[in-house]
Amino acid sequence: MDEPQQRRLGVLFSHVSGSSQPRSDLGLKAHAVSASAQPLLKGKVAIITGSGRGLGAAAANLFAEHGARLVVTDLDVAKADEVAAGIRSRGGEAISLAGDVTAEEFPARCVKAAVEAFGTIDILINNAGFTWDGMIHRITPKQWDAMLAVHCTAPFRLIQAAAPVMREAAKKELDERGKATQRCIINVSSTSGTHGNAGQANYATAKAGVVGLTKTVAREWGSFNIRCNAIAYGFIATRLTADKGSSTISVGGEKVKLGIPGGEAMASAAAEMLIPLKRIGTPDEAAGAMLLLASPYASFISGQTLEVTGGAYI
Ligand SMILES: NC(=O)c1ccc[n+]([C@@H]2O[C@H](COP(=O)([O-])OP(=O)(O)OC[C@H]3O[C@@H](n4cnc5c(N)ncnc54)[C@H](O)[C@@H]3O)[C@@H](O)[C@H]2O)c1
Repeated sequence: MDEPQQRRLGVLFSHVSGSSQPRSDLGLKAHAVSASAQPLLKGKVAIITGSGRGLGAAAANLFAEHGARLVVTDLDVAKADEVAAGIRSRGGEAISLAGDVTAEEFPARCVKAAVEAFGTIDILINNAGFTWDGMIHRITPKQWDAMLAVHCTAPFRLIQAAAPVMREAAKKELDERGKATQRCIINVSSTSGTHGNAGQANYATAKAGVVGLTKTVAREWGSFNIRCNAIAYGFIATRLTADKGSSTISVGGEKVKLGIPGGEAMASAAAEMLIPLKRIGTPDEAAGAMLLLASPYASFISGQTLEVTGGAYI
């Protein structure tokens, strides 16, 4: 292997593995808004589901750095507590809330917790999710339903539960002063939803559903200055792209193996062939896209599905 090739592979590997290579070469520095940068979300209240780890945790940390007040919520309470405590230890504001987004009682409880802690909700990010892969001829009804429940029904129910605090509050502002505060919803989709993916009929269907939900919310709530966008991520280095079975999630008492066969090595090989940037993304980069869409600079962007893929699928 020649020297430029070695250098390229080294950079690729370090991004994928999150190893010794500093992230500063991406122009990103986790948990540190530079002194000259304006915090983009000062005082905004954000709920991010599934923010105990992965993309959601990175977004919670980044949003807090930008002055947002966070509801960190996850199935995994220890992880949610850890993220919220980390934010508070750096001078930010965050509460943690344990819960399964698919539980009947969760949306109302989540909205109540946000309002009790911070008085309102400005940003809602439906991020919690997982994969439960299988080829079409083997997918069980339970496997199918689980994907629709977590990726479509749960976001819909949480948006509906947030209506009094987001839609009705905006309506009141419009009636009283003719202008509504900027609010936004971001639903996390996937390139499996926008392009399909072998072995993921259930996940791909659900992640495509998220796009329809997003466009409908954008149409219904746009007049209240509530924007709604989706982000379709490609490969991002989390446990969902780690080696299959290296972690599990419990669904109705059943242990579901997360990850993909071959894990990061497979993802890296695929990246070399399919991704113009020649590497998979980091959770911090994924969080950056959420910040972009939540920021005031995105005030005229609504109903879109932003593909965050390192250039794949263009
Ligand atoms: N990593 C990727 O390459 C990738 C690509 C496209 C889309 N996504 C999507 O991004 C989102 C985040 O995934 P990630 O890669 O950060 O995974 P992750 O496993 O690292 O984090 C997801 C978090 O969501 C939580 N969660 C899962 N089901 C839940 C439920 N029912 N109730 C509450 N919390 C729940 C988990 O406990 C976990 O902490 C998911 O919706 C996923 O489908 C990820």
